[in-house]
Amino acid sequence: MKITNLGTRDYASFYVACELYKQMSQQCHSKLGLATGGTMIEVYKFLVDLLKKNKLDVSQIETFNLDEYVGLDANHGQSYHTYMNNVLFKRYPHFNLSLLHVPNGNAVDLDEETKRYEYLINQQGPVDIQILGIGENGHIGFNEPGTDVNSATHIVNLTESTINANSRYFENEAEVPKQAISMGLSTILKAQRIILLAFGEKKREAIEKLAENEVNSEVPATILHAHPNVEIYVDDDAAPRLK
Ligand code: F6R
Repeated sequence: MKITNLGTRDYASFYVACELYKQMSQQCHSKLGLATGGTMIEVYKFLVDLLKKNKLDVSQIETFNLDEYVGLDANHGQSYHTYMNNVLFKRYPHFNLSLLHVPNGNAVDLDEETKRYEYLINQQGPVDIQILGIGENGHIGFNEPGTDVNSATHIVNLTESTINANSRYFENEAEVPKQAISMGLSTILKAQRIILLAFGEKKREAIEKLAENEVNSEVPATILHAHPNVEIYVDDDAAPRLK
């Protein structure tokens, strides 16, 4: 598994933004698998710059987000719908809204919603590039330690570690939703190309475990060892220490 230290968050984010831009400009029907979270903020910032400078036609680009909190309205300030609108879709308002997919965490029938989302990805996919962050506990999407490696889109009970890490975006920890809808590990692996990014000291241990371990469900990101086309980019602080 190739882990490349690109030095800084800015360099790595710009590189990934260029890769997304290249995919979109070379193939106008591209399907992108998108992630949220702090890691991706600069990627979207650089991507918006590139889209604006080059006035790229994105009207046929289709996107699939990895996950969404359960119980938050799409308009809630911390929903991943709102995040995507703020960082990308409203900043470059030329996407076709009907092609931008985020799971509905407020669906009346959540099981039905997981099935609908998985079916949609299977129908419209495969995703050309899936971008991923990584949790301090090794999660990808919201696939927490112990998740079945064959999992499809499903409802997840968030772990204390994830609730605590994500509480920085909420008024307090009690407000963080306890569940999410997430693409499963098998859903993620269907993408043609996967790019994982990790920045900062807090991610180093997860990256080291990913580098050292074969597929094992205690570190969900290790499932990426089973995919033929994965790239991992880190900054100096998240780079694995040499043994
Ligand atoms: C977000 C997602 C999560 C995050 C991960 C890292 O859509 O699927 O796996 O990528 O929790 O979050 P940040 O980037 O906030 O450290």
